[in-house]
Parts: sequence; C-alpha cells; structure tokens
Amino acid sequence: MNSHPIGIFDSGIGGLTVAHAVTTLLPNENIIYFGDTAHLPYGDKSSAAIQAYSIKICNVLLQQKCKVILIACNSASAAAYELVREYVGSKAKVINVIDPVVDYLSAHYTDTTIGLIGTKQTVNSNIYRKKTDGLNKGIALKSLATPLLAPMIEEGFFNNNISESIIEQYLQNPELQDIQALILGCTHYPLIKKQIETIYQNSVTVLDTSEIVAKALKQYLSYNDILNTMNAHIRHFYVSDYTTSFETSTKIFFGEQIHLEHYPLWE
Ligand code: DGL
Repeated sequence: MNSHPIGIFDSGIGGLTVAHAVTTLLPNENIIYFGDTAHLPYGDKSSAAIQAYSIKICNVLLQQKCKVILIACNSASAAAYELVREYVGSKAKVINVIDPVVDYLSAHYTDTTIGLIGTKQTVNSNIYRKKTDGLNKGIALKSLATPLLAPMIEEGFFNNNISESIIEQYLQNPELQDIQALILGCTHYPLIKKQIETIYQNSVTVLDTSEIVAKALKQYLSYNDILNTMNAHIRHFYVSDYTTSFETSTKIFFGEQIHLEHYPLWE
C-alpha cells in the first residue's frame, strides 16, 4: 500500500484521456496532472526541447512525491523517456505510453501488418517500429504522421463532416493500406476512435492506447503492492499556461470540466 500520487504529464490537455482512463480504472489513486500548455504542441518540437521540458515537469512531480511518473504523451515518450528514466532513477517508476502498447501487440498479434498514426515527432522517431521489430513476431509497422488531427480535436472538430474528411484523407494514404489494426499513437486520438472505426466499417481494429496504458499501470501497482487502498483525496491538474479555453476543453478530454491550476514552469 502506498498513497503517494501518480504523476501524469503531457504537452497539454490531450493527456487527460490517459488521466481519465487511470482515474476510471484506479479510482483510489491520488493524481497530479501536469499539462505543459505553455510549450504545446510537442509534436513539432525537437527532441532536445521536449527533453528539457520533461525534466522540468519531472522536478515538479518529484517534489510532490509521486510514486509513478506516467508520460501521457507519445511525443514525449518517444523523445524523452530514456532520459527521464535515468534522471528520476529510483525516486519514482517512470512509465511511458509506448511500451505498454508494444507489449499488447506482442501478446495479441503475430505475422501481421499494423498501422500507426501520431505526431511528426512520434512517427519520425521510428520508436514504434524499432520496438515492434525487436519483438521478432513478424509484425510489419506502417506509419503516418497526422499533424492536423491534434489541433483539430482541440478545437472541438470531431464527429462532424470536416473531421471526417480530414481523417479519411489520412487513412486513405498509401502508407496505411492493408493493415489489420491501427495504433492511435497520440493521446488526443481516443476522441476520434469511433469515427475511425466507422470509416473502416470495423474491418480494422482500432487500439485505444489510453486504456492499454491504464491497465499496465494497474498491473505494475498491484504487482509491486503499491496500490492506494484508501480513498483518493488529491487531484491537482496543473498547467504551465492558463487560459479559460484550456479549462473549457478539459470537458472533451476528461469527460467533465475540471479546474486547472496555473503552475509556471520556469519560476
Ligand atoms: N499529446 C501529444 C502526443 O501524444 C500530441 C500533442 C502535441 O503535439 O503536443 O503525442
């Protein structure tokens, strides 16, 4: 039993989809969320910039005595996971959003072709391909950067004609043909999962990575006997830049509007 909080961070509010999956599966856990809204989007940033931001955020989460730091952002998981893990050392367990998905593929797929959509940072890092190749399970990965999707979703454009034609354009790309499953490699994308499934007419399995990651976190906590068995009493949602528009948008990512607290990163 360990009541220290789970620290969750993302470039902004997209990672709230992961935070929501975590609070649903693990309602007793205390949560400290950090959205680096002052520096989003991470998807177009250099690895060096994302690494510097991630370390700053980890300092905040370590000060709050988080037992686990969950990098709820594919771009930061691709660019900064190894560095963050080294930096944090034994002070907390660091979990990213990529390894649990690769483990899931390993358990459920062999000799098949899987698609991946995500930011430029995530796709160009080639990290999913390197990790799936490392499984030696005959999984061929086809990937496509889909940079319009995150800002589109943040503006509330999903489940409408505009989002449908943008998503369709991307899915029709030759890079994504003949796949059996599609990894939603960005924490914004669970919001367009249903639309993607409709476009594919359920012929392709669409993998909601936020659920897979929450399950992996639960497994880690139970295996190490550090679940919080008392009622949760800490829920903080910090952002490095506050606007009312971010606060309003929390409703679409978290399912309910939550109060954001301004926590400047550089002071
Ligand atoms: N949340 C980020 C991810 O999962 C995407 C948004 C961004 O580019 O900052 O990659």
